[in-house]
Amino acid sequence: MRTETPQAIRLSDYRPPAFLVDEVFLTFDLQPNTTRVKAKLSVRRNGDHAEPLRFNGERLKPVSVAVDGRALAEGERTIDAEWLTIPDVPDAFTLETEVEIDPENNKALEGLYMSGGRFCTQCEAEGFRKITFWPDRPDVLSRFTVRIEADKAFGRLLSNGNLMESGDLPGGRHYAVWNDPFPKPSYLFALVAGELDVLEDSLVTMSGRTVELKIYVDPGMAPRAAYAMDALKRSMTWDEQAFGREYDLDLFMIVAVRDFNFGAMENKGLNIFNSSLLLADPATATDLDYERIESVVAHEYFHNWTGDRITCRDWFQLCLKEGLTVFRDQSFSADMRGEAVQRIKDVKALRARQFAEDQGPLAHPVRPSSYLKIDNFYTATIYEKGAEIIRMLKTLIGPEAFRAGMDRYFERWDGQATTVEAFINCFEDASGRDLSDFFAWYEQAGTPRVSLASRYDEAARTLTLDLRQETPPTPGQPQKKPLPIPVIVGLLDHEGRTQAFERDGQAVDETVVVLDAAQATVTLTGVDRPPVVSALRGFSAPVVLKTDAPAKDRYVLLASDPDLFNRWEAGQGLAAELILARAAGRADEVNEERYAEAVARALSDQAADPAFKALLLALPSEPDLALQMSPADPAAIHEAREALRARLSVHLEPELRRLHTGLQDLGEFSPDAAGAGRRALRNAALELLAANPRHDIADLAQGHFQAAGNMTDAMGGLSALMQIGGAPFEQALADFYARWKSEPLVVDKWFAIQARDPSEGALGRVLGLTAHPAFEGKNPNRLRALVSTFANFNPARFHDPSGAGYRFLADQILAIDGFNPMTAARLVDPLGGWRRYRPELGALMKAELQRIAAKDGLSKNVYELATRALG
Ligand code: ARG
Ligand code: ZN
Repeated sequence: MRTETPQAIRLSDYRPPAFLVDEVFLTFDLQPNTTRVKAKLSVRRNGDHAEPLRFNGERLKPVSVAVDGRALAEGERTIDAEWLTIPDVPDAFTLETEVEIDPENNKALEGLYMSGGRFCTQCEAEGFRKITFWPDRPDVLSRFTVRIEADKAFGRLLSNGNLMESGDLPGGRHYAVWNDPFPKPSYLFALVAGELDVLEDSLVTMSGRTVELKIYVDPGMAPRAAYAMDALKRSMTWDEQAFGREYDLDLFMIVAVRDFNFGAMENKGLNIFNSSLLLADPATATDLDYERIESVVAHEYFHNWTGDRITCRDWFQLCLKEGLTVFRDQSFSADMRGEAVQRIKDVKALRARQFAEDQGPLAHPVRPSSYLKIDNFYTATIYEKGAEIIRMLKTLIGPEAFRAGMDRYFERWDGQATTVEAFINCFEDASGRDLSDFFAWYEQAGTPRVSLASRYDEAARTLTLDLRQETPPTPGQPQKKPLPIPVIVGLLDHEGRTQAFERDGQAVDETVVVLDAAQATVTLTGVDRPPVVSALRGFSAPVVLKTDAPAKDRYVLLASDPDLFNRWEAGQGLAAELILARAAGRADEVNEERYAEAVARALSDQAADPAFKALLLALPSEPDLALQMSPADPAAIHEAREALRARLSVHLEPELRRLHTGLQDLGEFSPDAAGAGRRALRNAALELLAANPRHDIADLAQGHFQAAGNMTDAMGGLSALMQIGGAPFEQALADFYARWKSEPLVVDKWFAIQARDPSEGALGRVLGLTAHPAFEGKNPNRLRALVSTFANFNPARFHDPSGAGYRFLADQILAIDGFNPMTAARLVDPLGGWRRYRPELGALMKAELQRIAAKDGLSKNVYELATRALG
């Protein structure tokens, strides 16, 4: 147990910074174990007060502290584990400090650390305080000049902004000086030094300026940055067209590193990426990798305006930059890859991660009001639900007012650190609407449940919709208020034709009904024929919708809804019902056949996009189904879902085989949406064929695996073989490893596929893999590939009745916490759902959380999540 309870930080305690730093000159003398950092800051008292100066500083070995050129004696300043305090300072002065740090032994990967023999940094949220003494908070914006000195073995010396100067130094060393003209908070600082290859390109911006683009990667890897470069250029142009945002420096750099706690980081002018989200070629990356690279490159680039030029006043406002930037990258991806397919994928991810979070003890508002470690709030709620809120805002006020509000935001807040209120205020001004009720979406946690009942009056030609909402309690918020929920509604008739109707005297095909009270009744007029209601089109709000429509209506939607999201959703709803009925011992074979027949018809629709059909073919995931069963029984869900898959496989066999043959890639590989869609459908067909209990398709899967000309198909084959198991799978695994053992990103996939294996012996295999020579226990990608994949994507084995799956996860969390608290903390989540599972499982999960929370010397990160999860 921790000896003292860490102090919570509260939004209501926010005070402006006592001191500001206008300008800083940093000098890094880089050495793996003894890096010296000299900082010269122009400091200014902020406001009329006599407070002492208190700057953050952690794990720094102080060498000297001077004020206006005079070194301070011990008694004139104090340095403890977290702060430098100088009781007495002038109103404006120069502070000079020198510290020593040890990047090589920094395995927390926060601050300045080494990865693959290179120096790199990660400062968001609070890593800069591990580099130098600083008011490490986002509302202190400073102009940075950075001088880097290092041995010439570290060939590239990079930091934010523009290169001012570089040259040789005695003793085989060299230096570079960088200046960033844009004032920024310390979390956007970056430095990289090492041997790197570069892929170069350039782009002419909307005002005709040429921007140099450079992507730095491991020696020999430059060709694998080509797709990221292409995505970067498309992102830059898209942001000009969609939001009028032009890039502002003459140089934009990205660096890929192998050891990284997160996906990527938007440091001003010098993004740093996890190499898994940057490097790709057809042989080593799947279509999913390409898709994620495209969206993350865009995300980090878009931060240049939503995050860097306009940043957050404090970390409670994190969604101001993250939710908004996710919304922007989702809009970009929709334009690149097709709106419906993108929307379905985004909603799947939202439900899998955010809905689960909202239903458990870790539920929190999009703008939380207190935390122990801000790192724990880089969550699906802040990112994905944050993006959903922006999307609803756009639906509610319309695209023109939305764009006008964004323009205002950029104009009003450029160069400043601001709040969510200030952001929403821009849309109130632009739309002339009072959005104070809307603000509750930021402050209230939990997923609203919306119910919809409809009554058709044939004589009056009216359809009455009765809508209700209710949000279940979440930790700290027992009472919930109604939220403004935009519900997009359209009508079909029973033959599946679109049915126009009247709203406010206007003939329309679709309308936005805003449910802003606990209950509302809306009447649609001019409804000529008995309707089938298509509600919450495009998933117009992040809610759980229940309607009173009979199953037959959902078959109409599955066959014909022009809103492709709802077409997919209808199929998912039908499948979920069948699986859950089976899991509860009420298998409905007649309707299972009917469902299979409907999927067969949807598959044969020549007009439909293959990417869309691939999504239709996939049943709801096991974690998603677990959210809909109370208490959740993972074993029963797994079995029931497999049974429905087997039935689909038998029923659709001829069509699946046709797809598998017909969709073979003949021409050259293209990572674009069309090519990816065809591969997705072909691999989905194989995946489903592998569930056939009657026919052995091991040969087909093996042939698919061996003939694969790209990683997407290789993984598709391997995944099908995994389901079949036995010798063919073992052989394929061995071949795969032998072929790819020198490619870390591919070896990650090799670990991950074994972690996903739902078969009996898989847990033992996972345990054994932690002793495999390729298991790099300090590398977050490798840890996630094995541990996180197992805990999040293999419910059948993670929830082993013995509790061995939980024990494995807890052991890993405790071991990782010893050197990398951020990565350890992100693994706690799968145990957080303990209350939702069958009591005997829940008790075992809870016991592991208790074991974690009781550990001596636990980090604040893991302590916060484990204790909240125990709730
Ligand atoms: N700002 C980064 C991004 O979303 C993520 C940084 C994660 N940092 C953290 N401490 N969790 O683009
Ligand atoms: Zn971000």
